[in-house]
Order: sequence, then C-alpha cells, then structure tokens
Amino acid sequence: MNVKTIMVIGAGQMGSGIAQVCAMANYKVFLHDLKEDFVQRGLDSISRQLSRQVEKGRMAAEEREAVLERLHPSTSIQNAADADLVIEAVVENMDVKTQMFKMLDEMAPEHAILASNTSSLPITEIAAVTKRPERVIGMHFMNPVPVMKLVEIIRGLQTSDEVYNVIETVTKQVGKVPVEVNDFPGFISNRILMPMINEAIFALYEGVAEPEAIDEIMKLGMNHPMGPLTLADFIGLDTCLYIMETLQEGFGDDKYRPCPLLRKYVKAGWLGKKSGKGFYTYS
Ligand code: CAA
Ligand code: NAD
Repeated sequence: MNVKTIMVIGAGQMGSGIAQVCAMANYKVFLHDLKEDFVQRGLDSISRQLSRQVEKGRMAAEEREAVLERLHPSTSIQNAADADLVIEAVVENMDVKTQMFKMLDEMAPEHAILASNTSSLPITEIAAVTKRPERVIGMHFMNPVPVMKLVEIIRGLQTSDEVYNVIETVTKQVGKVPVEVNDFPGFISNRILMPMINEAIFALYEGVAEPEAIDEIMKLGMNHPMGPLTLADFIGLDTCLYIMETLQEGFGDDKYRPCPLLRKYVKAGWLGKKSGKGFYTYS
C-alpha cells in the first residue's frame, strides 16, 4: 500500500506538529479541526516553525512554500474520503475518540489506515468501534513533534502485520524512529513518565519543596532537559490527568491515583502552557 494523502484530526500542539512533519516528508496533508480558527492556529504555528528553519539556513524559502502548499485546511470530516492514512490527535478522552473513529470508519476509503496519537488509551477498544479493527493502530508521536525522534507504535489486538509495516515505513519517512509496543494502558512511554510527573505533583502538594526546586533537582540531578512540573505544563495538565486516570482504571491499582492538586488545577482551567497558567505562569 502506498500512502500519499494523510489527514490529521485535531490541529492542537500535537496535530499541527504531526501535520508539519508529514508535509515536510512530501505527503499531501489535510489538517482538520472543529473550527476554522483552530485549524488556522495550527497552520500559523507550522508557518512560524518553518520560518525559523529558513532563518537558520536549514530550509530554502521555496521549500517552506512548497511544504505550506501541501497542507490543506479542513473542517469537514468528509475530506477523510481522500485519505490513505488518518492520524487522530484530538483530546485524550475515550468517548471523543470512539465517536471520531466511528465517523472516520464511515468516511475513509476501505483501504485507509486509521491511526491514533493517543498517549494512553487502549487501541483495541478504539479499534472495536470500527468495522476495520485490523486497520487501526497507535502512532504515538512525542512533543514537540518536529524535534523528538520517537514514534511509539502500538499494535491493537487485531492490527494486521501489513498495517504495522506501512506505519513503520511512514514513521521512517517522516524522519522518526519507530519502536513497537503492545497495547496496555500508557504503553511504555507514559506508564513510566506520567507516574514520575504525578509523584512530583504529590511532592509539591505535600509541601516537600517549591516547584522551582523540584524541577531544578530533576534537571541538574538527573540530567532531564525539563523538570517534571515544567514538562507537565508543556504536555498539558488535562492530558496528564487523563493519562493518570487511564492508568488507574486500566490497571485497577491505587499507585496510579492522580494527585488531587492536579485535579484541582485542571478544574480551575489551569492547563499549563496552552492556557497561560499551570505550575508556572506564561505570558
Ligand atoms: N516545536 C518545534 N521545535 C521546537 C519547539 C517546539 N515546541 N521547542 C523547541 N524547539 C526546537 C528549537 O527550535 C530548537 O531547534 P534548533 O536546535 O534546531 O534551533 C531545539 O528545539 C532546542 O530548543 P531550545 O534551544 O529553545 O530549548 P531546549 O534546548 O531547552 O529544548 C526541548 C527544548 C526540545 C523541548 C527540550 O526542553 C526537551 O527535550 N524537553 C523534554 C521534551 C519531552 O520530554 N517530550 C516528551 C513529552 S511526553 C510526550 O510527548 C508523550 C505524551 O503522550 C505526553
Ligand atoms: P490540544 O488540546 O493541544 O489539541 C487538541 C485539538 O483537538 C484541539 O485543537 C481541539 O479543538 C481538537 N478537537 C477536539 N475534539 C475534536 C473533534 N471532535 N474533531 C476535531 N478536532 C477536535 O491537545 P494535544 O496536546 O495536541 O493532544 C492531542 C492528543 O495527542 C491527545 O490524545 C494526547 O494525549 C496526545 N498526545 C499529547 C502529547 C502532549 O505532550 N501534549 C504528546 C503525545 C500525545
């Protein structure tokens, strides 16, 4: 199977990054969101990213234009009819994702692969709402997409070898390194990362140290590029909470209990960098 056209659903921080790397790898890309404004915000962020590459002499101005021309805004799910591969990157919520996959299953051609960029939700459960579970797969990019090398590829219970191989090829084509894992809550990346972030939030909640101290310790002491609270703000506190809930529900173990402070911040609308406030304040 030859993938030529990719539709990315959700033009937030992940969807826009995924659309960018796909367009840079010569794919025709639809970037889809609920409203034109949301799509435009994603396209603006891609445009800024590409301008920076041109300024740094890493990309010719004509190439930037060519990449932008390969990107097509979409607010109609019917564009899925032209896609060989759909990569879903909407909010980390099972109901929203399953509704989306039902619609995509109706719209996308029979041969199309439906991939999810979910951080933690079971691919098998998402696949089960479609009539093509063998063509559903997890394609988990890391944030920020243009920089991070990994794509964690998650096989659902029924994902076919053919589909896995196509996704592995596309991953390499967009300049990333595929690593295969099986379908368990949080996969590998967030099963290990998110409890660490949650523990850092518990340490703050219990008054063990100030946010800056917690982050400095993990940066200087463990050589992490960002401290866990800065990273949580960067990922989005809503996404962090959804992931912890998925781990707690999926494994039925209290060790994954989301910190009450994380819940409180999300309820207050403090979602981290994207909302301007989380553990830190952003202008
Ligand atoms: N989008 C695109 N490029 C970006 C970027 C963004 N949001 N932020 C930074 N960059 C680029 C910069 O342009 C710069 O590129 P060049 O070197 O080519 O000029 C490069 O990244 C380094 O940036 P900076 O020098 O400004 O800053 P830095 O050295 O601190 O690096 C970082 C920034 C790459 C984000 C680094 O802090 C880092 O690696 N942080 C940890 C990121 C991480 O852990 N990601 C995984 C999150 S978990 C996840 O994604 C899974 C999930 O499901 C939640
Ligand atoms: P985000 O909040 O930045 O973007 C989500 C986008 O989806 C928004 O633009 C929203 O308008 C759109 N959306 C919501 N419902 C929709 C619908 N029904 N139809 C079309 N668009 C819809 O979130 P994000 O950080 O980009 O995360 C998206 C997905 O990627 C989540 O599943 C998340 O777990 C996963 N993920 C996030 C990170 C991260 O670090 N933030 C890393 C890897 C994976």
